[in-house]
Amino acid sequence: MSEVKLEDIVSLCKRRGFIYQGSEVYGGLAGTWDYGPLGVGLKKNIMDLWWKTFVTDRDDMYGVDAAILMNQKVWQASGHATGFNDPLVECKNCKSRFRADHIKGDKCPTCGKEKTFSEPKQFNMMFATRIGPTANQLTVPKEIAEPGVYDEVISARADNTDPSRVYLRPETAQGIFTNYKNVVDSFYPDLPFGIAQQGKAFRNEISPRDFVFRSREFEQMEIEYFIHEKDWQKEFDRWVKDIESFLKELGLPQDKVHKLEVPDDDRAHYSKRTIDFEFDFPIGKEELLGLAYRTDFDLKNIQQASGKNMDYRPKDSSEPFVPHVIEPSFGVERAVMAVLTAAYTEDEINGEKRTYLKLPEHLAPVKVAVSPLLKNKPELVAKAQDVYKTLKKEFGNVMYDDNGNIGKRYRRQDEIGTPYCVVIDFDTLEGDTKDTVTVRHRDTTQQERLDIGELQNRLKS
Ligand code: GAP
Repeated sequence: MSEVKLEDIVSLCKRRGFIYQGSEVYGGLAGTWDYGPLGVGLKKNIMDLWWKTFVTDRDDMYGVDAAILMNQKVWQASGHATGFNDPLVECKNCKSRFRADHIKGDKCPTCGKEKTFSEPKQFNMMFATRIGPTANQLTVPKEIAEPGVYDEVISARADNTDPSRVYLRPETAQGIFTNYKNVVDSFYPDLPFGIAQQGKAFRNEISPRDFVFRSREFEQMEIEYFIHEKDWQKEFDRWVKDIESFLKELGLPQDKVHKLEVPDDDRAHYSKRTIDFEFDFPIGKEELLGLAYRTDFDLKNIQQASGKNMDYRPKDSSEPFVPHVIEPSFGVERAVMAVLTAAYTEDEINGEKRTYLKLPEHLAPVKVAVSPLLKNKPELVAKAQDVYKTLKKEFGNVMYDDNGNIGKRYRRQDEIGTPYCVVIDFDTLEGDTKDTVTVRHRDTTQQERLDIGELQNRLKS
């Protein structure tokens, strides 16, 4: 368990513009979260680092960006339509619903009554909707609808045979599998090769909770790595190492990351081996991401359901075969939460408590903040603006900050994890120190004096 408290992270995220409750102005919507300006910056840096590490820096990877709405046959073939269920129990007294495996004992957490739970029922977690101008989406009141239309509309079938039914994807993986053949036909890659995708996934979680950890709308970063069956153990082990080094790049301390070999009866229906990478979150040791050996389960199912051949034809003209798959599956929200947990630090400077985010520099949403010592001195402001514009051009994520006094600015920048604050003061304008600035370092709070000309290179290194 992390010593950082969840409420401290939630409160910092809200106060400083990282993450807000979804639809907050209307009282919220359970399981949804909105990223504010700094949250977007942090999330994007994590996602870009992932993409660079696993896609652009490698020559065995192909990126895709598939549609969220997919033909419902995808989810029938993948087993999600029938098997993507969580056990749900209902309290017969207060009607609250819970995930059966999250309930400890037989006391209802809402009303406190004992032994009021129903037998568990299987609850499918996919969000269903309809595509096209169908019945339940009709907003025209019955009285003014075209004769006949309303009747036709309300008789639309609610079961899985409804041809207009579509699901919001519960994993990005299927958008990869359904494009496997396209990528093979367009690029004819050597095996092993991977297809990667980042994007939204949706799950109607029975009890969304613990901030963004268990949300109903979240983002995934997934890879399907296509291999020859005989190589699966070797490739699986390689992925364990690649994931471990990526987690280091996220700044997660090694002793807070744990590997859990998922036992047979807990594995997803498609997996022959799964390792969950767990992290010491403020809520306890919980799953951060998963690595699964999905065998040829998905491609074989697609082959059967679509009638299309999913064979890979080796370039040496040996027998074609359906490849097997190793799947590293990362959740963006959990990565954000782990990075924030690892970075959240409290210390004391000159007897004063300080909170700061010790973010790795390459993930910080703001790399440098530039300030004039006083905002009512035009000569300081002009010089600060010059320095700001130069650094902004070079680094992009640079903030101009002239709010409050310099001490307050440092505190604020510390809290959002800005590694450097550059201050333009009177010494910048004249004397031996002309054209030098103060650079203050977040972690040590130490300051150094640097030539403006040196700044870019020093901050780069
Ligand atoms: N394609 C495989 C797959 O989706 P999963 O273990 O169900 O596997 C992968 O999900 C990752 O997605 C998890 O390790 C987690 O990081 C993230 N994830 C899953 N459900 C989530 C939820 N409700 N909220 C936030 N992240 C979630």
